[in-house]
This record gives sequence, C-alpha cells and structure tokens, in this order.
Amino acid sequence: MEIMWISATYDRGVTSSATYHADLGKRVLEWGGTNLRDLPWRRTREPWVILVSETMLQQTQVSRVSERLPDFLERFPDPSTCAAAGAGEVVAAWAGLGYNRRPLMLHRAAVQMVALHAGAVPSGLTDLLALPGVGPYTARAVRAFAFELPAAVVDTSIGRVYARLLGRRLTSGEVQQVADYTASDDEPWLWNQSIMELGAIVCTKRSPSCGSCPVDDLCAWRGVGDDPAMGSAGVSVPQAPFEGSDRQLRGRLVDAMRRGPVRRSDLPAVMQTDNERAGRVLAGLERDGLAVVSAADVRLP
Ligand code: ADE
Repeated sequence: MEIMWISATYDRGVTSSATYHADLGKRVLEWGGTNLRDLPWRRTREPWVILVSETMLQQTQVSRVSERLPDFLERFPDPSTCAAAGAGEVVAAWAGLGYNRRPLMLHRAAVQMVALHAGAVPSGLTDLLALPGVGPYTARAVRAFAFELPAAVVDTSIGRVYARLLGRRLTSGEVQQVADYTASDDEPWLWNQSIMELGAIVCTKRSPSCGSCPVDDLCAWRGVGDDPAMGSAGVSVPQAPFEGSDRQLRGRLVDAMRRGPVRRSDLPAVMQTDNERAGRVLAGLERDGLAVVSAADVRLP
C-alpha cells in the first residue's frame, strides 16, 4: 500500500512502507513490554474501571487520577450503582479531578448502559460511541484496554509521536489513519499502552529524550529543526489560563455545592466575583445540568 504520509521517512532511506511499519510495530511492542509504568488501570481489564479511568485521564494528570480512582470506584463499583445514584452524587465524588461535566456524562452513560446493555459496558464501537461523553478516544481506549479488541487509540501524545515520526504536521484524520495502519491487531492492549507511554515518557512535548527512543532511527524528525508536532491536529493547543477564567469560577461554585446547597445571595462571594459575572457563570452551569436553581439556593442535580 502506497501512502503519501510516509514520504518523509522514505527520504531517510527506509525502503518500503511495509518494512517500515513492521519494524516500528515490533520495536514499540518490545519497548513497551519492559517499559510500561505500573499504573492502576494497567492491572485490570474490567471495562467499567477502564471507562472511569480513561474518562478521568482525559484532562487530569496520571498522579492525581491514581490517587482519586480507588475512592471513586469504591463508591461506584459498577455502572448500575452509578446509574442508581443521583447525578449530583457522582459529581460530588469527582472532587479534585476538575472538568465537572465529565462525571455528569459518566452518570448519563451509566444510565444508558443499564437501559440498553444490562448494566454492562458494551464492546462495540458504535454502542460505545453512542454513550454520552464517550468520543473516539475513549471508545477505542475501552475496546483496546478492557476487551483487548483491535483499535487504534489516538490522543494528543500519540498524535505528537506520529507527526514526529513522519516529519510533518498531520490533521486529526491523518493521525487516525496512520494509527489505524500501524496498530497491532494481535496485541491491541500492549500496542496502545506502549505507543501512549512512548509519548508520555520519551517523546515528550517539550524535552523529548531521542537518545533513549526505541525508534529514533525510524523518526524523520529526531529532535532536529522545527517540531512537526507543533500545529498538528489536537497536539499543541495551548490551554487558556485557568487563573481568573470562568472555568475557575465554575470550579469554585461546584466545590461549594459539593458541601451542600449554596444560597443565591452568597454566589458572588463563593465565586469571588461580581454579581453579574456570578449570574452568567451560574447560567452556564445550569445549562450544562450541573446546577439546579431555585428561588432560594443552587445545588448539584
Ligand atoms: N492517559 C490516558 N490513558 C492512559 C493510559 N492508559 N495510561 C497512561 N496514561 C494515560
């Protein structure tokens, strides 16, 4: 199969795309076999645990997720327990993890799993993608990491690895295409964990360790010149500053509601802002289903 996106690696003397991808695949798998960190979600294939941890990992760092995951799972050990709880309880248990729409969606997903899948996490890509809050990343992560089914997981660090290997900026469609082509169908779990780990600990965003990379000789970039990952799809979108953002104010109010209903007159003080902005942020939370507003107070759903 001739594919244009490997042209940059041809220039480095790689003879055919089949050889190139076979080498790449083999070496990434070998490296992963001995270099994966021991992380809680790598010790299990339990689909609900994988879904919860991958949802947490989307925007929260590994150390924080490792810390918070056990308590959450103790409270919500399976989709049925989660679905039977109020959405607000699930949001309350999400304390310290940020981005509070995620527990709300997880709760809705649990309700759907009870309604449509007998309380189990489905394994079909279409069924997974139909769950609230589950996008292409999470759906494939559940398939590969829980069910060990063929799937090419793509996240920002995997996108960065492929852009550098191929030596050019890639659109998100191209990243998925090259990932689909390269992924091992025989060892989907190990393959996806390995390529993800390579991005997390070797091919890092700011200071890649090309010297200890198992595929540096297959890399078009190798740390020299402009970084092709910069500007690649989904790879280097700088986060807006948190300090002073609406997100910070939302977080303050959700944290306060975790402790109980908040009187409307206390809203500006709780969010540490003026009345008008407090009203605007509250309206956003209400629209998202994260706040229930009555005449006297606001509370979690
Ligand atoms: N980030 C998202 N998913 C991950 C995983 N399975 N292992 C490590 N970091 C991750």
